[in-house]
Amino acid sequence: MSNNQKMKAVGAYRYLDLSDPESLVDLFIEKPIPTGRDLLVEVKAISVNPADLGVRKNNNYEKESPKILGWDVAGIVEQVGPDCQLFKPGDEIYYAGSVTRPGGNSEFHLVDERIAGNKPKSLDFAQAAALPLTSITAWEGLFDRLGISHSAEENKNKSLLIIGAAGGVGSIATQLAKLAGLTVIGTASRPESIQWTINQGADFTINHNNDFAPQLKKIGFETVDYIFCLNDTIQHFANMAEVIAPQGKICSIVPANKASWTGSLDMDLLFAKSITFVWELMFTRSMFQTKDMIKQHDLLNKLADLIDNGKLKTTLTERLEPINAANLRLVHEKVETGRSIGKIVLENF
Ligand SMILES: NC(=O)c1ccc[n+]([C@@H]2O[C@H](COP(=O)([O-])OP(=O)(O)OC[C@H]3O[C@@H](n4cnc5c(N)ncnc54)[C@H](OP(=O)(O)O)[C@@H]3O)[C@@H](O)[C@H]2O)c1
Repeated sequence: MSNNQKMKAVGAYRYLDLSDPESLVDLFIEKPIPTGRDLLVEVKAISVNPADLGVRKNNNYEKESPKILGWDVAGIVEQVGPDCQLFKPGDEIYYAGSVTRPGGNSEFHLVDERIAGNKPKSLDFAQAAALPLTSITAWEGLFDRLGISHSAEENKNKSLLIIGAAGGVGSIATQLAKLAGLTVIGTASRPESIQWTINQGADFTINHNNDFAPQLKKIGFETVDYIFCLNDTIQHFANMAEVIAPQGKICSIVPANKASWTGSLDMDLLFAKSITFVWELMFTRSMFQTKDMIKQHDLLNKLADLIDNGKLKTTLTERLEPINAANLRLVHEKVETGRSIGKIVLENF
């Protein structure tokens, strides 16, 4: 279906180093039309995640049509598909979208309404665009996969170690875990990331470049009840096995075969303590169109309420304008360092 209308976008025909101006290019492409449960969204702000870097890198041969990246969007519903029930034109929404579809680095974008939520009213579009992908990951990791209760009373004496606490996922995971009443120990390796982690609410920090057990002992912990691993799972596996409490639970969001790392997980290290190990991929629900995919709509709405009630805050640390290839290349370079603190957002085309 075509409406002969065009829109601005940023994309890549194939993987090139970011120093090459062709690595991400400004485009003028066809504006999409919503069908089924899709919303057509006027994109106001977007964020960049390590997922963008991964998809860009895998785009390793020249394509006829460019790959559009971008899995964090805040914008306004312009039009709804015929089967939509949750939103109407004019609604302000935020979402991550699906990695099996074009990303949101375009003036207009299609998203299934079941994975979009109402944008927090107290945030502007850029502050909201910092949140969806990382918050869905943190929420699903903590509450759906690790099975942590939302009740602060139940979590009173429970501890959580977050590995990579100052990054995009770690920042909001720290806030969510504190809200759920856990004692949070975040890992960070530099003065500025340590300070940011404490600002997000962490009770303690340790350094992910050193052994965990002696550092934990120093702050009064022999073991921790839960671990949320947001970085190199192989690098941290033996350390995690050592400090997790018997019958404790570990969730990782980083697959062991991630290209730059080598090795495999020695699951036997978790046997004697009867540890539960679980993966979290925030794209699972949209990728497999699971029956419960609307849970991402629900959790984004709950998150928005928590923000509007002052219980959580945006993790935005830096904003750039406008959304174009040159600025996106800059932000990709920053995220590629693996040293980001919070989230960088681009706004307005
Ligand atoms: N499965 C999923 O659904 C899902 C969703 C989102 C992200 N991810 C993946 O999860 C990872 C984190 O994502 P993110 O958006 O939070 O990334 P990010 O914002 O780029 O994370 C940056 C943080 O990582 C920390 N870090 C660097 N090296 C580390 C190490 N060796 N061990 C522990 N922490 C380290 C840095 O802290 P210091 O500067 O203090 O060293 C920095 O603050 C990425 O690999 C991403 O691809 C997966």
